[in-house]
Amino acid sequence: MTNSSNIYSRIAGTGSYLPEKLLTNADLEHMVDTTDEWIFTRTGIRERHLIADDQVTSDLALHAARNAIESANVALTDIDLIIVATTTPDKIFPSTAVILQNKLGISGCPAFDIQAVCSGFVYALATADNFIKSGAAKCALVIGAEAFSRIVDWTDRGNCILWGDGAGAVILQASQEQGVISTHLHADGNYEKMLHVPRKTTGQDTVVMEGNAVFKIAVNTLDAIVDETLTANGLQKSDIDWLVPHQANIRILQATAKKLDMNMDHVVVTVDKHGNTSAASIPLALDVAVRDGRIQRGDMILMEAFGGGFTWGSALIKY
Ligand code: UT7
Repeated sequence: MTNSSNIYSRIAGTGSYLPEKLLTNADLEHMVDTTDEWIFTRTGIRERHLIADDQVTSDLALHAARNAIESANVALTDIDLIIVATTTPDKIFPSTAVILQNKLGISGCPAFDIQAVCSGFVYALATADNFIKSGAAKCALVIGAEAFSRIVDWTDRGNCILWGDGAGAVILQASQEQGVISTHLHADGNYEKMLHVPRKTTGQDTVVMEGNAVFKIAVNTLDAIVDETLTANGLQKSDIDWLVPHQANIRILQATAKKLDMNMDHVVVTVDKHGNTSAASIPLALDVAVRDGRIQRGDMILMEAFGGGFTWGSALIKY
């Protein structure tokens, strides 16, 4: 959706959090029949962080939220909307967003979760953007947080090597200046069974994925969403300063960069250190590149994601 109002939502601050425990490819060599070389060559991943036994998703979200609130320099009482994108909520209900709200020590503002798996952050950002553009919110806390390791089958070598845990957050504020320029969301439930946790039908409560088939569809779909986003805004590939993609597999990131004629130096890559953290991966990558000084105010950022559902989407942002 492109912006026809004169109110924009703008990223006022970013934050992130990774749990302490590291799981390296060498550790995985002791768990399944794999090698560091296979994992790194096929995915670009070296290591990932795992949530501690006594932590839940809202704990990861809380750390990331506090970082973002501090960097945006807003008061807790300014927050009038909380959206958490997650596939691994603390509980079936209430939402992780409500639990987070309480942990932050605030109450009253709307708080809810969004479930769009790896596309969750883009979905959450688009939702918050629309709240702000319509005047329904002025200062939104938007988070992607996952304890994905809790739904991974640690005996499935074609799958368990991919995932990691973490959280990333942004404060999105109403502004006269351009921020979120457009968002583009899609879903197609025909692909439900290619990437899912089939619990309710079969009792299995871990991820089942046709990895190679998902990979190929992801590359083609992300190609299309790049075209859709550029065309909707009358932009050229060269207008994009930074690609901040969902971190699924380095080979998918490289394919999207190629589509954009973009040097990998302009792609924010964290998959090597974070693995695939599902809904958390984009805000985690954004925070890394903002804090290390690569992304500067005024830069044009393209975010894109693809995940279970299938769901996919993009956001074009002037930082
Ligand atoms: O984030 C949301 C969306 N998810 C994705 O985008 C994930 C997309 N998929 C992928 O990233 C990749 O498909 C994987 C990393 C999951 C798998 O890589 P691949 O290159 O597609 O491998 P494959 O599944 O086609 O397997 C190739 C070979 C097979 O052996 P044979 O049949 O050729 O003898 C697998 O059994 O590699 C074998 N293999 C492994 N070998 C060593 C699969 N996993 C492993 C492993 N270590 N961990």
